[in-house]
Amino acid sequence: MALSRLGQVIIAAAASALLLLPFLAGPAAAAGQTGQVTVFWGRNINEGSLREACDTAMYTMVIISFLNVSVHGHSGDYSLDLSGHPLAGVGADIKHCQRKGVLVSLSLSLSIAGGALPGDQSAIDLADHLSNTYLAAARDDATTAARPFGDAVLDGVDFFFHDAATPADAERYGVLATELSRSRNAGDQSSPPPRLTATAPCAFPAGAAALATSAFERVHVRFYGGENSNCTVYWEDAWARWTAAYPRSRVYFGLPAAPAPEKDGGGGGYIYPKTLYYSYVPELQKAANYGGFMIWDHYSDKKSGYSAYVKNWA
Ligand SMILES: *[C@@H]1O[C@H](CO)[C@@H](O)[C@H](O)[C@H]1NC(C)=O
Ligand SMILES: *[C@@H]1O[C@H](CO)[C@@H](O)[C@H](O)[C@H]1NC(C)=O
Repeated sequence: MALSRLGQVIIAAAASALLLLPFLAGPAAAAGQTGQVTVFWGRNINEGSLREACDTAMYTMVIISFLNVSVHGHSGDYSLDLSGHPLAGVGADIKHCQRKGVLVSLSLSLSIAGGALPGDQSAIDLADHLSNTYLAAARDDATTAARPFGDAVLDGVDFFFHDAATPADAERYGVLATELSRSRNAGDQSSPPPRLTATAPCAFPAGAAALATSAFERVHVRFYGGENSNCTVYWEDAWARWTAAYPRSRVYFGLPAAPAPEKDGGGGGYIYPKTLYYSYVPELQKAANYGGFMIWDHYSDKKSGYSAYVKNWA
């Protein structure tokens, strides 16, 4: 009796080991579809409100762009540039989006050539500013008046890279990422840290140290724009490089929503929906850390309707 019971246990154990085998063998399994679509909002007044963007039900994350950072040797030069969108109402829209299950983040426009963060202290100051102004770690002395989005709490912060980083710059981005990862709601230490994402040109120098931090849960790679022409042609190589370089992050394929994007981020890189479906999607989703698609930007998407395709294939 006892023996047959033991036998059953052994058989059950062997069966579950067999079931596990496909997952243990070889490199990690393909991610397949994730359904994740991220969009940038805030680059054109004619795109409609943040609430409207979320109400399209096309996106799982909306990134408000940009908070421009130009410290130039002294801390505190941060300006929110939403292309003329009125600030009043954005806070309520953020909450509306979050209630619908859409994550809302804020993108930092980081021009390294412009010396955005001259020293470690400027990175720490920026982290403090973000925590108190947009995230949950509001100090008691931080008044709501100083928070452009009121008491709405953003889900994350995006590091938007325009150009390559020197090792010194990279170190400061590391400091900023580390400080932000530590930030929590002052009143609730069990609250999750902000989700950190990075958005970089595909042609970003391989192994750029600025991104070599496991703090980024997502990396959006811009497979468009003039500086990325080689990347858009040899996209399979580039995709393999990026997904291999950041195994602990989910890597998103960044696309323009229309052939001729209105503003920055333009240039080549538009992919016809049919080509995207047949040539790109199967290849991209082979990567274990494929994350989804990133679309630039909501204004172009509103006109072209591109995300209606992408949503089903992401
Ligand atoms: C903020 O940064 C964006 C992206 O680099 C740029 O297009 C915009 O002109 C900047 N705004 C200001 C006020 O400098
Ligand atoms: C473009 O990419 C291909 C494939 O990755 C590479 O062999 C080639 O050297 C690149 N050319 C330039 C100019 O970077």
